[in-house]
Amino acid sequence: MISISALAETLPDVVKICYGESDQPTPEFICRAAYDATLAGHTGYTHTAGSRDFREAIASKFHELQGVRADVPNVLGTVGASAGIFVGVRTCVGPGDNAIVISPTYAIFATCVEMCGAEARLVSLVRDGHRFRLDLDRVRAAIDRNTRMLILNSPSNPTGWVIRADEQKALVELARKHGLVILSDEIYERLCFEQNVAPSIARFDPELEHVLVVNGLSKAYNMTGWRLGWSIGNERLIGLMTKAAEFVTSNPATMTQQATIVALRDGEPYVAQLRADYAKGRALVMKELAEIPGVSLPDPEGAFYAFPQIEGLKDSATLARRLVTEGGVAMAPGVAFGPSGEGYMRLCFAASEKTLRSALERFRNFMLKQ
Ligand SMILES: Cc1ncc(COP(=O)(O)O)c(C=O)c1O
Repeated sequence: MISISALAETLPDVVKICYGESDQPTPEFICRAAYDATLAGHTGYTHTAGSRDFREAIASKFHELQGVRADVPNVLGTVGASAGIFVGVRTCVGPGDNAIVISPTYAIFATCVEMCGAEARLVSLVRDGHRFRLDLDRVRAAIDRNTRMLILNSPSNPTGWVIRADEQKALVELARKHGLVILSDEIYERLCFEQNVAPSIARFDPELEHVLVVNGLSKAYNMTGWRLGWSIGNERLIGLMTKAAEFVTSNPATMTQQATIVALRDGEPYVAQLRADYAKGRALVMKELAEIPGVSLPDPEGAFYAFPQIEGLKDSATLARRLVTEGGVAMAPGVAFGPSGEGYMRLCFAASEKTLRSALERFRNFMLKQ
């Protein structure tokens, strides 16, 4: 995936829909809040987990959106969701352990597990007509006495899958039975095309005994470069994760914490607009891909990715390279999201209509010549 974007950056005329971000900047009211906070002196260290008002804002938004009560000790602010994932995994698994990773998925999860000396057990989603679904028997079969975690991302990068309530309930039951922590990456919770927010798995574990939620501002507020995320979990786990974060990143940037308070408080109209814009991009992509022979697209229920399956495709990395060099369009190869992503390509529809149209036209022309 990194090699595809690096290749695309070296060539003059490549339309890039390979990245996991939009081409729009952060909204002005959030930039202004960071500027004001900086001038007001929010420039020193805070508590590693973040300042009290910042953690309160996160806890109260979680309650507002998900109906699950959290308090300051349940919240750890992190340098992007990525740092939350790393310290979460680092806190729960070590050599000899294993963690279940529902895949295809963002590569960071399995990599973090392996960096901690543990085994990542990839459990594939099942393609079921227009959507993906979780095969609970596969999950059960992958769990043994060394399993410590189950890692899940819904709405999902790259598949657009949104976990169903019965699947959430079943996973929480499994976690209770086997004493697992479910790391639930919900960074795309606001980008759900059926509803205002994708329901958190924490609704089935409101005491947060087994669920650790990871989230952040990157995707729903166009703030990928600000590096602001958070984790919500039980006090003991958050306490341990905070100790780990102290020696890796310490607190997320102090003025960014203040801007987060403003984003969460005043950002609802912005998020609603963003979702409406992405819904248009989604509709365009669904329509255009449906017209290309040999391409079949599971409905992207959430996030901002389409994950079309290409008939007969055995080597998505090579196709991705050829699309860049011969087709002038950069997409991510499905295999970058695990072996079960092979045969698929990922494209991001958070781009402007002009960029999307041009990318889809190039993709179509290339595919028609094969
Ligand atoms: C599922 C998922 N989690 C986490 C991240 C990274 O988030 P952050 O920018 O907050 O580190 C991404 C970015 O693509 C993602 O797709």
